[in-house]
Amino acid sequence: MIKYKNFTELTGSERDLVLKWRNSYSVRSQMAQSKVITPEEHYRFIDKLKTDTHTQYFLAILKEPIGVIYLENIEKTKAEIGIYVDPHNMGKGYGKRILKEFIITLDLTNIYLKVKESNVPAIKFYEKIGFKRTLHKGDFLEMILWI
Ligand SMILES: CC(C)(COP(=O)(O)OP(=O)(O)OC[C@H]1O[C@@H](n2cnc3c(N)ncnc32)[C@H](O)[C@@H]1OP(=O)(O)O)[C@@H](O)C(=O)NCCC(=O)NCCS
Repeated sequence: MIKYKNFTELTGSERDLVLKWRNSYSVRSQMAQSKVITPEEHYRFIDKLKTDTHTQYFLAILKEPIGVIYLENIEKTKAEIGIYVDPHNMGKGYGKRILKEFIITLDLTNIYLKVKESNVPAIKFYEKIGFKRTLHKGDFLEMILWI
């Protein structure tokens, strides 16, 4: 079973590992914010999560850390979701497990996401989980999953 460790409880080395993943080209190039994040920005971001009731970030651990999953714009019944996997361990089924096991813990009726239209692998990945395409906004495609 995957353990989801809140970013606010990460050790120093876990924080650094997450930053390394997030700054890898294969992850950051697919994010809306694609520039390299400095350690200061990263630590500030994690500190702010302690008081932000609309945002939750988790490190997914299966014996070892395998990826990150997060909720943003959390409302009563819905939230925006995002995920990235350790760049050295993509395509091994971890993303699917992280997302599926996380979803069943949620007390929401739907989750939605924005993915770059050019990120065809991720769109295929989300469709396999059951997300449906909703609308286009600029270079992004919105997708939704009813839980
Ligand atoms: C997208 C991402 C989370 C998928 O996680 P992953 O661990 O690599 O994917 P998995 O191995 O769990 O694949 C799950 C399913 O998606 C499919 N899939 C994954 N990568 C794919 C690809 N490149 N092309 C087509 N299908 C793909 C797999 O075939 C698999 O299908 P199956 O269940 O029928 O075997 C991961 O690759 C990632 O972190 N990418 C960079 C960041 C990113 O794009 N995040 C999303 C931004 S919105």
